[in-house]
Amino acid sequence: SGITTLDPGFKNTSSCKSAVTFLDGEKGILRYRGYSIEELADKSDFLEVIYLLIFGDLPTKKEKQQFHRDIQTKSLVDEDVKKILDGFPKSAHPMGVLSALTSALTAFNPKSVDVRSEKDMYNAICKILGKFPVLVAWAYRKEEGLPLAYGDNSLGYVENFIKMMFELPNEKFVMNPVVLDAIDKLLILHADHEQNCSTSTVRVVGSSHAGLFASISSGISALWGPLHGGANQAVIEMLEDIKADGGDYKKYIAKAKDKNDPFRLMGFGHRVYKNFDPRANIIKVAAEEVLNDLGIDDPVLDIARGLAQVALSDEYFKSRNLYPNVDFYSGIIYRALGIPVPMFTAMFALGRLPGWIAQWKEMRLNKEPISRPRQLYIGATERAYVGIDKR
Ligand code: CMC
Repeated sequence: SGITTLDPGFKNTSSCKSAVTFLDGEKGILRYRGYSIEELADKSDFLEVIYLLIFGDLPTKKEKQQFHRDIQTKSLVDEDVKKILDGFPKSAHPMGVLSALTSALTAFNPKSVDVRSEKDMYNAICKILGKFPVLVAWAYRKEEGLPLAYGDNSLGYVENFIKMMFELPNEKFVMNPVVLDAIDKLLILHADHEQNCSTSTVRVVGSSHAGLFASISSGISALWGPLHGGANQAVIEMLEDIKADGGDYKKYIAKAKDKNDPFRLMGFGHRVYKNFDPRANIIKVAAEEVLNDLGIDDPVLDIARGLAQVALSDEYFKSRNLYPNVDFYSGIIYRALGIPVPMFTAMFALGRLPGWIAQWKEMRLNKEPISRPRQLYIGATERAYVGIDKR
């Protein structure tokens, strides 16, 4: 068929031109719209980063306020969505619930599906930014058996999300600034990462002009897998297993190196970073700070430290450029903040939402063609049909 290039996993294929996120895997550089991730994590806040990713520039005070108001006015989730949520078992994984509910939002907001003008696009964007944190909080509360909560428009975007998550019935909610700061930082660090698996999924699905919510829903499904966002859950489960097994992490290093053993060291390795993951460096420091501030002594942090140290000096890991990635330490912070393990990847999804939106918007405004890769066919070329009685 004339197709000769084969690139499994798209390891060497640029699928689009993009001006959203700059990533230099050799040097460990990550920049959103030109701004370094280190500086944004230190000085900015998540709402500002959302604006930056989606609209290309940091907002003025007025632009930020207006954007926040537009999100707030679109944050109500239809009461009937609660009935769908009610239909799921309490044990349902939040990522499955979130993917389903995000897709269900199309039924309640049919106008958001077909975005023809920039105004339609803006409205759809504000809607998903307003409603998604509510869905994440609801998925959490469902799992915890708590009554569903509503937002408080007097609060900031992240503050409001935290209150919706953690407010307990009949108790006055008090915001812990350490928790607010840590969650804000984590969301910023996860906000975009160029053409990763879930973002590419959002662009591929969106390229057929399926709506924003359907595209985001497929991105959530892609993020769920343990090789991608699901790694943050897998890391903590692995560290717990090692702890339960007596803490002998060297045994797990040996398992990871054994090519006859499918076990991989979760939280290690990255498709693009070949020296270090800059997000992991920031999160490592933040994890230590949060545990200190909250006065938590988590034995899995010692195991994580030991594992990282051995892996970083081991020839197998060094020769393959396998370093701790963003997910290696994020679970430790989430756990310290009281977030249950199955919710970890949902927190990642909340962080990645603006990246998915920015990349989807860019794809639509660039009028990119439908994504439709080809293949190298290796099956039988022609076979004569044999009736079922003769097989
Ligand atoms: N433990 C042990 N060996 C590994 C690991 C690991 N975590 N990761 C890669 N390798 C080995 C792999 O077996 C291969 O060895 P060989 O050349 O001898 O066959 C070599 O390193 C290259 O691996 P690859 O699978 O070809 O690399 P990739 O770019 O396709 O995969 C990855 C990247 C992140 C999926 C992979 O490193 C991995 O599975 N890591 C563990 C899961 C994880 O932490 N994922 C989160 C990634 S960061 C956040 C995100 O993307 O959401």
